[in-house]
Amino acid sequence: MVEAIDKATGAMSSAELAGGQHSRATVGDFTAADPRMVCRDVDVWYGSKQAIHGVSLDIGKNEVVSMIGPSGCGKSTFLRSLNRMNDTIVGCRVTGSIQLDGQEIYDKGLDPVPLRARVGMVFQKPNPFPKSIYENVAYGPRIHGLTNNKAELDELVEASLQKAGLWNEVKDRLDQPGTGLSGGQQQRLCIARTIAVSPEVILMDEPCSALDPIATAIVEELIDELRQNFSIAIVTHSMQQAARVSQRTAYFHLGDLIEVGETNHIFTNPQHKLTEDYITGRFG
Ligand SMILES: Nc1ncnc2c1ncn2[C@@H]1O[C@H](COP(=O)(O)OP(=O)(O)O)[C@@H](O)[C@H]1O
Ligand SMILES: [Mg+2]
Repeated sequence: MVEAIDKATGAMSSAELAGGQHSRATVGDFTAADPRMVCRDVDVWYGSKQAIHGVSLDIGKNEVVSMIGPSGCGKSTFLRSLNRMNDTIVGCRVTGSIQLDGQEIYDKGLDPVPLRARVGMVFQKPNPFPKSIYENVAYGPRIHGLTNNKAELDELVEASLQKAGLWNEVKDRLDQPGTGLSGGQQQRLCIARTIAVSPEVILMDEPCSALDPIATAIVEELIDELRQNFSIAIVTHSMQQAARVSQRTAYFHLGDLIEVGETNHIFTNPQHKLTEDYITGRFG
């Protein structure tokens, strides 16, 4: 429980937090020069419990933004609010403004299904469908009607697997089950599945935490390549990973966005005491 927090940390009292007010001011520039998503004063509630307090953050074009912070600080909650994945959680409520290319994603008239194609998600544990490798990638384009015939679909499946760096490993066994691949391959298959519907933004929630170091290195390299075509927001519990893959880093603590800035700046010269404590391993 947060109590009687030192004014010098910029924190606020538990009474203020409980009231669902705007959180302490974020240190650093939360805007992006060329934003794809613009989030302002985002609160997220589970029933009467507030999990995210007034977070403002942009996700820029062609950038990777990493979200770090101690377990339970709200990283996954915030990430899920970016493609309305929280809609599927009973009692979860999101307020504030979240725009994708200038359009409010929580507008009543907006259908979350196409939204989730535009803002795709890759989960912690690779979760291929119990279908063939081919069908895993073809599924999205098919339900969204993105291709006109089998030849076009074949082409799109190949291109997506190429972009995910998996084509050469699977091209001779596209009809085999996706679940038969190694963990690292399964995660790249899930990335191929996400890419296949041409998203603008890809959300990744600890995408490497179930992978061995070699598979992790391959996926990290892939993330860097994907940046050429997509905006990426990645939650990671690995500060090394954040340093390797992201241009900007956002540090969360108890549902507040404490500090955001250029990744190397956050890791070498944090401005907020809480950020410093976390990155120097004093807690977390
Ligand atoms: N489905 C849920 N229902 C109720 N509370 C939740 C749910 N998911 C997360 N929370 C709570 O919201 C807070 C933030 O959780 P989460 O976003 O999972 O943090 P992180 O990803 O940083 O570990 C925690 O207090 C957690 O217990
Ligand atoms: Mg999480």
